[in-house]
Amino acid sequence: MNKGKKLYEGKAKILYGTKDKDLIIQHFKDDATAFNNLKKSSVEGKGVLNNRISEHILSNLSQCGIKTHFIKRLNMREQLIKKAEIFPIEFIVRNIATGSLTKRLGIPEGTVLNKPLLEYCFKKDDLNDPLISKEHIFSFEWATEEDIKEIDKMTLRINDILIGLFRGIGIKLVDFKIEYGKTWNKDTEKKEIVLADEISPDTCRLWDSKTEKKLDKDRFRKDLGNIIQGYQEVARRLGIMPEETNISEVNFGKTIPIKFKKK
Ligand code: TMP
Ligand code: ASP
Repeated sequence: MNKGKKLYEGKAKILYGTKDKDLIIQHFKDDATAFNNLKKSSVEGKGVLNNRISEHILSNLSQCGIKTHFIKRLNMREQLIKKAEIFPIEFIVRNIATGSLTKRLGIPEGTVLNKPLLEYCFKKDDLNDPLISKEHIFSFEWATEEDIKEIDKMTLRINDILIGLFRGIGIKLVDFKIEYGKTWNKDTEKKEIVLADEISPDTCRLWDSKTEKKLDKDRFRKDLGNIIQGYQEVARRLGIMPEETNISEVNFGKTIPIKFKKK
């Protein structure tokens, strides 16, 4: 698939057009940002790992009947996806209290929530992606009531599937952020809602079940070090990286050999 022109560059990914107007190439960068770009670095190997982890997770979700934008992985850093009109909303699911929830409401860190908590944020970097209610979404027509009803249902189902997937490899799914878009379905000749963007340690909080060690982007946000080792551990446990592979961190500018299991 030939890469066309750059359509959009975000903090961690770049989107390129293709000859087919309905298809896009999603490229995963090594750039890591936090607190809306205030903290910025390059974590070598992160893009490769996120490409592979997100492929694995979205493929698993698709096997469980969740419609996604993912078509196939093209190479180490790129995947082919369906073009989607993205809702300007970040959908957050929380199973355990941490991060902005503990800061905002004073809920003690680590509190296990009695049911998954859904939150919505307006996707607007200049405003720091503020928390919004469903009423804001409907009032400003960022999505319809029907869309949100369907998305909430999909989101809770995704949470159930992912909790199980991660529990099986000794990881607690603490919280995560997902995005959705609308794509054109050629068969039904209708627009449909699909899970878009990525699901990776950049967008989830993942704690080791026994030790509660963080295996996600909080290692970067909180300067805990060993960022890539955390992501690598997730990939290894998901069974998409051979045991012996080790990606050393912080060697900026150096090429790091990363081997993956063939499919
Ligand atoms: P928060 O506790 O900082 O609000 O984050 C909730 C979840 O959303 C957590 O898993 C990290 C993820 N997240 C993103 O993927 N992108 C973001 O820009 C933010 C703020 C959070
Ligand atoms: N993705 C956001 C940023 O780039 C925040 C975060 O993930 O913590 O600043």
